[in-house]
Amino acid sequence: MSEVASVLFGREDIRRRVEELGRSITGDYEGREPVLISVLKGGSMFLADLMRSIALPLEVEFMAISRYGNATESLGRVRILMDMRGDIVGRHVIVVEDIVDTGLTLSYLITTLRARGPESIAICTLLDRSVRRIAPIDVRYVGFDCPDRFVVGYGLDHRERYRNLADILAVPDVAALERDPGALTPLLAG
Ligand code: PRP
Repeated sequence: MSEVASVLFGREDIRRRVEELGRSITGDYEGREPVLISVLKGGSMFLADLMRSIALPLEVEFMAISRYGNATESLGRVRILMDMRGDIVGRHVIVVEDIVDTGLTLSYLITTLRARGPESIAICTLLDRSVRRIAPIDVRYVGFDCPDRFVVGYGLDHRERYRNLADILAVPDVAALERDPGALTPLLAG
């Protein structure tokens, strides 16, 4: 393993946990046909695995959102870059995220989605870095509690790179990765 990063959540642990979440959702939504909304880009890999673990008819939608400046500045300044195609009136919506930090992104998104008349909205995130929370939000499904560390892999990026790592790595020295952005490239193959 590189000195720049270490495995925080390995691929097998992720696989098992995603299957557990899928089983929970299957039980909770029995007899219903939920709409899973993935927030690009980070949530896409989690969505791909999660949806295969849900034994229910379901639909999938995608949204892209931009944030400006740092987390605090972005309060109220979130913008929809790409909206979903379908409508969610009367539907049971599950928003699928890779990570929740401040909660500002989801706080905005949930308010926006609620105005569209769904029957219910729940949040499912693989990682919950709740120590960074600013906006209180109700996260119903959490894969793992995430320590206050920079993480990459399984959808999470560093400057758009490393989303395709199979494991989730913690990067204790982000400055080292900034100096050598390709430092984790050897890990992509394994
Ligand atoms: C991440 C993540 C959430 C958001 C959470 O997305 O996917 O959408 O940050 O942060 P918050 O709780 O502080 O609002 P990011 O902006 O990194 O974009 P990406 O998914 O395209 O990498």
